[in-house]
Amino acid sequence: MKLSVLLAIALAATPVAAGATSPQELAKGKAQFLRCQACHALLPTDPKRIGPSLNGIIGKPAGKQEGVRYSKGMAEADFIWTPEKLDEFVKRPREMIPGTSMVFAGISDPAARKALIAYMQSIK
Ligand code: HEC
Repeated sequence: MKLSVLLAIALAATPVAAGATSPQELAKGKAQFLRCQACHALLPTDPKRIGPSLNGIIGKPAGKQEGVRYSKGMAEADFIWTPEKLDEFVKRPREMIPGTSMVFAGISDPAARKALIAYMQSIK
């Protein structure tokens, strides 16, 4: 086989184009979201849970959803959720928002957080 043909095969087999999220990454993120699911809706059709809905959370202002009783710290937060903010919060919720009522220790593995956030972003 010619080298150029081999190269073409190798390129075609590369699973992820720049910027796209692989199905494996999304599956990993979905598994991570099981840790959030007891308290948070994600799909628009999910029933309301103890925590605020996370449907389309990226792009929304923190602590401002209608009908949610936030802690003082979250209610007074003054930022928009971005992937970076979400990463910081999920890493150590109580460090980012002192006094948060979200009882969750955090996810220390950066790769797990990255997959989780990619999965959350994939849900419309
Ligand atoms: C034990 C229940 C519980 C678990 C588990 C939990 N949360 Fe929460 N979450 C809450 C509560 C309650 C709040 C409101 C916090 C506050 O007001 O301080 C909250 C708030 C949030 C917010 C802010 C929402 C807004 O409207 O600004 C985000 C984002 C969030 N959680 C993400 C997550 C993610 C991602 C996970 C999983 C890794 C997770 N949470 C796990 C209960 C939970």
